[in-house]
Amino acid sequence: MPADRISKLQRRSCAGGSVRVEGWLRSARHGKERSFLDLNDGSCLSGIQVVVEPDLPNYEALVKTLKNGCAVSVFGELVTSPGKSQRYEILSKGIDIVGEVADDYPLQKKRHSFEFLRTIAHLRPRTNTLGSVWRVRNAATMAVHNFFQTRDFLYLHSPIITLSDAEGAGEMFRVTTLDAKRLLQEDGREDFSKDFFGDETHLTVSGQLEAEIGALAMHDVYTFGPTFRAENSNTSRHLAEFWMVEPEMAFCDLEEDIEVAKDFLKEVIQAVLSDCEEDLAFFNERIERNLLNSLRNAVNTQPVHMTYTDAIEVLKGKSKGFTFPVSWGADLQSEHERFLCEEYVKGPVVVTDYPKDIKAFYMYVNDDEKTVRAVDVLLPGIGEIIGGSQREHRHDVLSRRLMEAGLPLDRYKWYLDLRRFGGVPHSGFGLGFERLMLFLTGMSNIRDVIPFPRVPGYAEF
Ligand code: 4AD
Ligand code: MG
Repeated sequence: MPADRISKLQRRSCAGGSVRVEGWLRSARHGKERSFLDLNDGSCLSGIQVVVEPDLPNYEALVKTLKNGCAVSVFGELVTSPGKSQRYEILSKGIDIVGEVADDYPLQKKRHSFEFLRTIAHLRPRTNTLGSVWRVRNAATMAVHNFFQTRDFLYLHSPIITLSDAEGAGEMFRVTTLDAKRLLQEDGREDFSKDFFGDETHLTVSGQLEAEIGALAMHDVYTFGPTFRAENSNTSRHLAEFWMVEPEMAFCDLEEDIEVAKDFLKEVIQAVLSDCEEDLAFFNERIERNLLNSLRNAVNTQPVHMTYTDAIEVLKGKSKGFTFPVSWGADLQSEHERFLCEEYVKGPVVVTDYPKDIKAFYMYVNDDEKTVRAVDVLLPGIGEIIGGSQREHRHDVLSRRLMEAGLPLDRYKWYLDLRRFGGVPHSGFGLGFERLMLFLTGMSNIRDVIPFPRVPGYAEF
């Protein structure tokens, strides 16, 4: 049992070394002379063994009927265990059965497939793997806030319902209280003035544009919240609802932005390595044999920088072909990103200066007029984990870019205004929190690192 677990028990303890613990049974063995219960309350991976002697008044009638999944409250004494598999155990002086378990409880003491566990997402956090995922998610969340808070970034709550398409890619879920027929006018067009907000609203794809408002008043801000994309990508790396961390910094160019992104990744990974030792050891043993090495490697090695143009040259020089063709102007596919970090560099890669036609309207156009000051950070096993850029702060260039992207200028008036009223060079990036979770845990499907996944065709719970 790890030291932190003992302190948690002690915090809940009663007088004279006695403790009360509450939780769910992972298993119950009823021997001839006593019963052994494996109790877990989610506070850490290893549960605690509860030993129950037959002299308890409810032993025959209740304790012996306890089984896997029951909720119990145990009062007893924390003692050194004579057994080999744990240092401490609880010698029970009393047990209350708080919640009985029906016979068709689906979690048995065996390995269940992740596909099966997704169908019982209301029970899966009681398994070792999902319990560890949830704890790592919590530790990583705190590490994110810690990184920015200790650097004087202000946490900004960007809206979830929005009028603007922050990425200009049109992959948005519409928010309406009316059915489509009621919006239609005689000419077949929709009249959004009748709708709840009196306009056409969507779920946000990114908090960046509002973060820019924040940065241009408070210097350095970050958002950390849910974002939504209606892209029909049924892959192990895409969700329709995912969490994004988006810092935005004023008086900041791409080079400074990249330095913050690298420090941020390293610090969050290091914090989780320190805070989640037991959970990461479990992932390293059961899920991904190379996990701890790759986490330490990401903390200790400097990412390799290359421009998009350099990356294309490297990919073209590769002897074996890719499924997707490599040519200047085409976006990097996951197989290309993974080749760069897994085989070419064998570590994190920072790719900059992408062609402007494959990137969003808000990125700063380089002097070559062909590329933009964009950055993607790629990690082994994941591919793109961070996407960012220096923002276009020149009013005329931005107006032109919006028009080229076919976006309505009136919708982005306020965004253009920010360039006229004390606009300054500013930059930021977005980290996909679930992609980070994949990297931190070695899990292979993004649906298993968010408590309730939303993907095309599926939004249960
Ligand atoms: O590269 P993206 O689209 O960048 C933005 O949204 C910018 N507004 C960020 C910024 O500069 N403030 O998305 C950022 C990251 C990606 O690198 C990826 O990790 C993650 O968000 N991401 C997804 N994660 C899960 N499911 C999806 N469908 C994702 N789409 C993007
Ligand atoms: Mg991107």
